[in-house]
Amino acid sequence: MKKHIVLLPGDGIGKEVINSAKDVLSAIAEEYNLTFSFETHEIGGAAIDLYGTPLPDTTLEACKQADAVLLGAVGGPKWDQNPSHLRPERGLLGIRKALDLYANLRPIKGFKNLLHSSPLKEEVVSGSDLLIVRELTGGLYFGTPSERRENGQIVVDTLYYSRKEIERIVDKAFQAARQRRGHLTSVDKANVLESSKLWREIVEEKKAQYPDVVVEHVLVDAAAMKLITNPSQFDVIVTENMFGDILSDEASVLTGSLGMLPSASLREDGVGLYEPVHGSAPDIAGKGVANPVAMILSAALMLRYSFQLDQEAKVIEDAVEAVLDSGFHTADLQVAGGRRVGTFEMTKLIVDYI
Ligand code: NAI
Ligand code: MG
Repeated sequence: MKKHIVLLPGDGIGKEVINSAKDVLSAIAEEYNLTFSFETHEIGGAAIDLYGTPLPDTTLEACKQADAVLLGAVGGPKWDQNPSHLRPERGLLGIRKALDLYANLRPIKGFKNLLHSSPLKEEVVSGSDLLIVRELTGGLYFGTPSERRENGQIVVDTLYYSRKEIERIVDKAFQAARQRRGHLTSVDKANVLESSKLWREIVEEKKAQYPDVVVEHVLVDAAAMKLITNPSQFDVIVTENMFGDILSDEASVLTGSLGMLPSASLREDGVGLYEPVHGSAPDIAGKGVANPVAMILSAALMLRYSFQLDQEAKVIEDAVEAVLDSGFHTADLQVAGGRRVGTFEMTKLIVDYI
């Protein structure tokens, strides 16, 4: 198998952790006889400095030609005062839109050795291993009209969905549930919102196509509570754009560090953008101490969701878990009695395990 991957390091620790993903992928390629070619382009602040725009055409074109894109992170204090069209985040929003990345997948797992890195009680976090599938290009964040009226004192936002938009995200979630533990929780507000009623109808219709998946419906307010009182009851959660935005940040506290959380954003044909949930971490950039795990696990998601290399993805995930289990950890994690390592050493441990 031959795949072409575009690397977008971006800014800050993005530049450091992207190398970790590349090293891990090279190890996988060698071990499993795959061919990955890499091409690096600028995005965000780095692109502003070099080309005067956060998303140069060359970068966008390269991403459109690629089988998948890996992104580090964008942003930093240097560009904070820039006008909005010259902000690094513009690059990120632009590329998500240009590639029509409608499905955002965020796996969240309470790793055994890191349970007390979370602010939640160990017995609550223990055993949690869930995937949030968030609709990313529709819903409340994109519906029109969205405007101020009558001198700005009346405001309106619109929660708009078409059947097709709901069907494709629900299908994606069913497929993901099938690859995991076969349980799907659809989160909505069907007791109030029309959009949620159609959402629920479609989930009910789709059930017949996925008889091996157990489905439940949970209202979003109850889901928010259950996520931090009994997270291990969830396998796959599928939900609307804004609900997913809120729930995925809430769920991120289960792991205890932003440095552990990967994400995937997918287009219908399987092309995807994979990036850690964290930002460019200007406070630790350039010091070689960033946790590369979120970026490395993002590369694993790329193997699984864009290249259907589920077994190879699992090898990376197992390697990460094994290295953490033996007590090695970066500075953002609390592990009693373990050994603290930097970005490079952490990466090498994972590569060696593979
Ligand atoms: P951040 O995620 O960069 O950092 C928050 C805190 O978590 C910091 O103390 C940082 O040191 C720590 N942290 C984050 N990732 C880590 C890792 N891998 N290893 C160890 N520690 C880690 O969020 P912040 O500080 O709010 O934003 C910094 C910049 O990043 C801003 O310019 C922001 O706009 C941008 N940003 C970019 C994102 C993206 O590219 N997707 C997402 C979030 C923020
Ligand atoms: Mg958010």
